[in-house]
Amino acid sequence: MYKVVTKRFLNDSKSICLFEIEAPLVARHAQAGQFVVFRLDEQGERVPVSVAGYDREKGTVTVMVQAAGKTTKMLHTVEEGDYISDLVGPLGKATEMDDLRKVCVVGGGVGCAIAYPIAKEMHERGINVTFIAGFRSADIVILKEELKAVSDKLIMCTDDGSYGKKGFTTVFLKEEIEANIRDNEMQFDRVIAIGPDIMMKFLADVTRPYGIKTIISLDPIMVDGTGMCGCCRVIVGGETKFACVDGPDFDAHEVDFDSLLKRAAFYEDEQKAADQHICRITGGKRNG
Ligand SMILES: Cc1cc2nc3c(=O)[nH]c(=O)nc-3n(C[C@H](O)[C@H](O)[C@H](O)COP(=O)(O)OP(=O)(O)OC[C@H]3O[C@@H](n4cnc5c(N)ncnc54)[C@H](O)[C@@H]3O)c2cc1C
Ligand code: FES
Repeated sequence: MYKVVTKRFLNDSKSICLFEIEAPLVARHAQAGQFVVFRLDEQGERVPVSVAGYDREKGTVTVMVQAAGKTTKMLHTVEEGDYISDLVGPLGKATEMDDLRKVCVVGGGVGCAIAYPIAKEMHERGINVTFIAGFRSADIVILKEELKAVSDKLIMCTDDGSYGKKGFTTVFLKEEIEANIRDNEMQFDRVIAIGPDIMMKFLADVTRPYGIKTIISLDPIMVDGTGMCGCCRVIVGGETKFACVDGPDFDAHEVDFDSLLKRAAFYEDEQKAADQHICRITGGKRNG
């Protein structure tokens, strides 16, 4: 059993919540870019979430989780002092950041939570970080102060202009790349993007003509998280890869986004049905 020691909602709409969980063995080995798989109870489904932070001395791991469906909504009702049944990890490969000097990190929605520890570690290593954080609207904006602290330049934007600049992350990424050219500044040697698949697809289109290596963190449906079930397969550079063991980071210019987007929609009906079921039997509250 794994104890929740801190719980904190991160935005006004309470759609994303931070949990700090006691898990000394996971905390000892966790690195930015990796993920864990949790189960709320023995009958629960296995849910992958990224490592958003760790404290090796305290033996805790932090995750930031959006209430997307049945299990994540139930997780949001877990309180400080409660226990969850399992937390396995760290899984997947850590984000590569050796030899980088100037990076643009782009986060979309809850992707900002996943991108935050990557930006933080880069900043600590002395890499110049421009962070572009995009959200649909002001009520779901997260980590304002935290992102500022780890960025040399921070651009916050919303689709409707209710917080920060108005517009999509793609527009501001292109502006930053063009500004580097215009001002004779060093160009980004990498773009790292984490967010909705469609955002990452269009960001890849922005960087392709400039030849800037672009890494994205994929979150396909995962079951075992250890390369056994094949559920998380993605096509990268014409080859089949398993996101849980070969990723979750991949070269965006090599990813087959068409097959990725098709597979992401595959279980939509079942997920909606499970979500409606939990809301009916519990009124949206965790029932045990
Ligand atoms: C490597 C990885 C890292 C992730 N990191 C985070 C994170 O840090 N914070 C966060 O909020 N979410 C993260 N996710 C997404 C998270 O796993 C899903 O939101 C969660 O599984 C939803 O489960 P649910 O039962 O609440 O909703 P459901 O109704 O079952 O699903 C809602 C949506 O979540 C996705 N999803 C569902 N089941 C899975 C699954 N087993 N594996 C992957 N995606 C699934 C689907 O896109 C689906 O449409 C990550 C996913 C992966 C693969
Ligand atoms: S989740 Fe089963 S192979 Fe990746």
